[in-house]
Amino acid sequence: MTPVSAATIDGLRRIEGRDKVTGAARYAYEQQIEGVATAVAVTSTIAKGRIHGFDAGETLAHPRVLEVLTYENAPRVAEDADSEPELAVLQTSAVAYHGQVVALVIAETLEAAREGARLLAVEYREQTPDVELSDSHPGLYKPDKVNAGFPTDEGTGDPDRALEKADLVVDAVYSTPNDHNQPMEPHATVATWSDDGHLTLYDSTQGAPMAANSVSKILGVDSGRVRIISHHVGGGFGSKGTPRPNVILAALAAQALGRPVKLALTRQQLFTMVGYRTPTIQRVRLGANADGTLTALVHEAFEQSSTIKEFAEQTTTCSRVMYASPNRRTAHRLVRLDVPTPSWKRAPGEAPGMFALESAIDELAVAAGMDPIALRIANEPDVEPETGRRFSSRNLVACLREGARQFGWDERDPTPGVRREGRFLVGSGVAASTYPARRQPSSATARANDDGTYLVRIGAADIGTGARTALTRIAATALDVDPSRVVVEIGDSALPFAMLAGGSMGTASWGSAVVKACRALVEQGGGEVEVDTKEEVAADADLAKHGFGAQFAQVRVDIDSGETRVDRMLGVFAVGKVIEPRLARSQLIGGMVMGLGMALMEEAILDPRTGATVNHDFAGYHVPVNADVTDVEATWIEEEDAELNPMGSKGIGEIGITGAPAAIANAVFHATGRRVRDLPIRLDRLL
Ligand code: MOS
Repeated sequence: MTPVSAATIDGLRRIEGRDKVTGAARYAYEQQIEGVATAVAVTSTIAKGRIHGFDAGETLAHPRVLEVLTYENAPRVAEDADSEPELAVLQTSAVAYHGQVVALVIAETLEAAREGARLLAVEYREQTPDVELSDSHPGLYKPDKVNAGFPTDEGTGDPDRALEKADLVVDAVYSTPNDHNQPMEPHATVATWSDDGHLTLYDSTQGAPMAANSVSKILGVDSGRVRIISHHVGGGFGSKGTPRPNVILAALAAQALGRPVKLALTRQQLFTMVGYRTPTIQRVRLGANADGTLTALVHEAFEQSSTIKEFAEQTTTCSRVMYASPNRRTAHRLVRLDVPTPSWKRAPGEAPGMFALESAIDELAVAAGMDPIALRIANEPDVEPETGRRFSSRNLVACLREGARQFGWDERDPTPGVRREGRFLVGSGVAASTYPARRQPSSATARANDDGTYLVRIGAADIGTGARTALTRIAATALDVDPSRVVVEIGDSALPFAMLAGGSMGTASWGSAVVKACRALVEQGGGEVEVDTKEEVAADADLAKHGFGAQFAQVRVDIDSGETRVDRMLGVFAVGKVIEPRLARSQLIGGMVMGLGMALMEEAILDPRTGATVNHDFAGYHVPVNADVTDVEATWIEEEDAELNPMGSKGIGEIGITGAPAAIANAVFHATGRRVRDLPIRLDRLL
């Protein structure tokens, strides 16, 4: 394995980079539409109950307010919108959580809309909410399946008996809090209806074609009449993977007013209206022989959803992939609370799941008196533990070894709590990363222009990842021309239907279609071709396909305040062929930094009496800033895997966050001797 050093990174710069830094790139809310009115959403101030009535008198008396929409007067959505209760907005008096939309104020200006929203009086009949997740909640149940269609429970052998007989046992409960996507660009939409009933939406979305389909179903409009344009997106991390209430609200308002309407959610509203990562309580039990060989692995997760929609995160699926054990049980239990509906946040499942599993593995290494890397290597599976399928490629061991070399792991004294530098205790930790490498059908067109340039069109999304640039490289490689001769058009549901930017599947899904189109064009000798990848994706070989990685962290903990600083993070990944190194590094370190936030900072607190998110802004909800990120580096090993897709690539959007919190928590243990099993690792949890 040849390690790739970041020092050698070169390649394409972002195609839209100049437009973005000069302000020429227009995001959804910045579209200049003649006659556009501005809407502001009003959200509930109770977590459970009913709206008893509105007094919109003062609002409507405002000279620049145009309309107030509520469930009493908003246009009706389609009957089958019941299947998407978060999008059936302004249809009922029932309130399911604090911060749910209850009204929309539309005005000539943003200022007037905000003032109108402030003047709107809403009277409620309030019931006592239940917003607290616990592992003994009487409402816990077993969902039929968990996110992405994974089985809720699975296992093999008799783990309880194996735990009884094990030489070494780790039995620990870990928890992770509500954490929030909070992309830099808030969710925003501009909606315009044409006279002949066509709806155009400028929207901030991770997938315009799929979003257009959903919106057409909710509104009961023929899908050919809904177009979503989304050229630039300022982050999403999963929260823009599906349409959010802003899209439907803007469409309904534009319909009611007969003029274009724009709506951006506020930073505060992003805490309740666009999904978030469920809190988890995870019990992990590991049984092992004295030499560290696992004999039992039990990983059980407790999580929440709202009362209106089931979202069950796949928290323990990582334990079906990572380590060999003859006895295993993984399970999920869910409780429906009076809370906003959780959804996808970067590596739903793997991010919290790998915190618990990789912390427990570190605890087992301590119990066994073994190096945590050696322990992991000793428990490498030959095949995917859950299914017995062969791995298309699995280079976790290579990542651990290469990371250890680069990090200087071998000089580490394993004794916890003994390295003192001034006021600080210093330590280092390691954890593994993993994320599935999947793809979905997509279609694309490719055209050879007379001037020697090429146009590739696909309904892909660039949410800040550099997808437009990566697809340009993929197309140029397949056409065997310089990237400067290729234009890739994305971000519009009018383009050929494609997978959304989610599940780290974007590049693999779109790239497969782009390569196919470009090769067909070359074969045809010019002109234009249209392809889709339904057949090859359906025939994907029956293999276990996952990316892997190893993350190392060095921390120092202030002995007086308990403050933890991360001095260094190193991630070494095995993610197939890296298409555009500069962009890949950015994705990987971005995930690692988000993992740093998850480890030390991010936590939304719900008031148990009111169900309100107490710290619903960046003053109270902390994310890493530059000063928190001193030395974060991501590298990779060269991994050949011809069984994935034509590029040989694995997704890189999410793997960087997986394992990062555990690497930091394990380093905090090494520094202090204190095992913190509840994220974030707050000062009070260390003192
Ligand atoms: Mo990602 S959380 O699958 O959009």
